[in-house]
Amino acid sequence: MAPFTLRAGSLRARTATLTITLASLLSFAGNAAASTAPARPYVPTPYPVVERMLEMAALQPDDHLIDLGSGDGRIAISAVKDWNAGSALGIDLNSARLAQAQQNAEEAGVADRVRFERADLQETDLSDASVLTVYQLNAKNLWLQPVILKNMNPGARVLTHSFDLGEWEPDQSDTVEGGTVHMWTVPASVGGKWQLTTAEGTEALILIEQSYQRVVGSAEIGGEPMMLSEPHLHGNEIRFTIDSRQYVGKVEGDRIVPLEGTDVAVGWNAQRI
Ligand SMILES: C[S@@+](CC[C@H](N)C(=O)[O-])C[C@H]1O[C@@H](n2cnc3c(N)ncnc32)[C@H](O)[C@@H]1O
Repeated sequence: MAPFTLRAGSLRARTATLTITLASLLSFAGNAAASTAPARPYVPTPYPVVERMLEMAALQPDDHLIDLGSGDGRIAISAVKDWNAGSALGIDLNSARLAQAQQNAEEAGVADRVRFERADLQETDLSDASVLTVYQLNAKNLWLQPVILKNMNPGARVLTHSFDLGEWEPDQSDTVEGGTVHMWTVPASVGGKWQLTTAEGTEALILIEQSYQRVVGSAEIGGEPMMLSEPHLHGNEIRFTIDSRQYVGKVEGDRIVPLEGTDVAVGWNAQRI
């Protein structure tokens, strides 16, 4: 057998050949990646995480849940079957998963209260959902936060598996079997100036600054600044204290109407100005 000898010239030639081969391989790989995007894996929410999401949502019979990207339908089906929701809608683009979800709903005996629709989740009308659930593996949440705040009613709950909604901090989070669940309650819009009239006819000017569900405020009565303490907003319920008197009210667009309670002010109202 001829002894193996390495000559400088042949090394350069081989290196050049190797470079060309790698370059062509990389170029081929690039073309292949561009023309055939890899299929996204289907990863459903594990059942213990589904349970925790729906438990946190505290579903009621008048709740309508929408699951954006419903997969095999497990969240929508469990919501009505096990957690008391009145109805649910699952949205997905994948026909095979929609068919599976429909079959699962029929087998669970809830097909009369759960619907599955083929649609793009980014084009789905969320306005009649009192509860929204979402588990998407990519950055689909970036567009979601403003859409929720614009279209969903104050008091509606949003639950996600895995991802957050940017600067809007969740009201509650939990970890189940390594999966993170977050919950938000859609806040009413309360930022701005309000005129509060007490039962005795005293008028107070209220100024509220709002960042999502967080509120701070100040008050003025007869030109005198007053402390507006312990302001709190949850959905469309707002509470605050002025001069040791607690006000608890329901935000209805441009007015706030008093809610009953123990040791709370009665007979007042507030109007946005
Ligand atoms: C991670 S799976 C979640 C399934 C189910 N919600 C769960 O938690 O088990 C995401 C689902 O969203 C669907 N999906 C992805 N992009 C979508 C889009 N633009 N519109 C509707 N569905 C979409 C996928 O087909 C897939 O079934």
